[in-house]
Amino acid sequence: MNKIHLAVALGGMALAGIATVQTFPSLIPGLSPPGLPPSDPANRALVAQGRDLYATQCAQCHGARLEGEDPDWKRRKDNGLLYAPPHDVSGHTWHHPDGVLIAIMRDGGQVNAPPGFTSGMPAFGETLGDTKLGAILAFIKSTWPKDARARQAAISQGPGQ
Ligand code: HEC
Repeated sequence: MNKIHLAVALGGMALAGIATVQTFPSLIPGLSPPGLPPSDPANRALVAQGRDLYATQCAQCHGARLEGEDPDWKRRKDNGLLYAPPHDVSGHTWHHPDGVLIAIMRDGGQVNAPPGFTSGMPAFGETLGDTKLGAILAFIKSTWPKDARARQAAISQGPGQ
């Protein structure tokens, strides 16, 4: 298992956690797999590109202001699917390292879901590609307060952070 696959597997485990216990563990060890696209929130051009992409590709589910699909997003929908969580600091996106977030964006929520779990998170790897996914992640990060940003950057550096 290479690091990318490990990241995908951990992403799936995180989603499984969401599905079963409705808690949002920050237990995923930090990962920084090779080949991740740049997602630096201090890069204004990248953030601007990500903002536009987010508005057209992600906002319909995750909210125009990254507030999530529903104020009560931690419960399940009647059909068993999860609501799209917020990406602002009220959510748990900032608890996950870059490798996990990019893996979920690339491959969608279904790819490593446990049997019986249906994910509402589509895969964007083929349609958008890594560079654009990195730009979207840069935009998402740019909305987090400084301390959350620093924490997530540390988690992304590697295990033990
Ligand atoms: C059709 C609705 C939909 C769209 C469009 C969508 N998502 Fe999601 N997303 C979800 C749902 C629902 C989840 C919750 C997990 C699950 O069901 O697998 C999720 C989960 C996620 C997660 C993991 C949870 C977290 O925050 O830690 C990330 C990261 C994510 N989405 C990013 C994106 C990005 C980036 C885009 C746009 C490129 C996007 N999503 C577009 C529905 C959507």
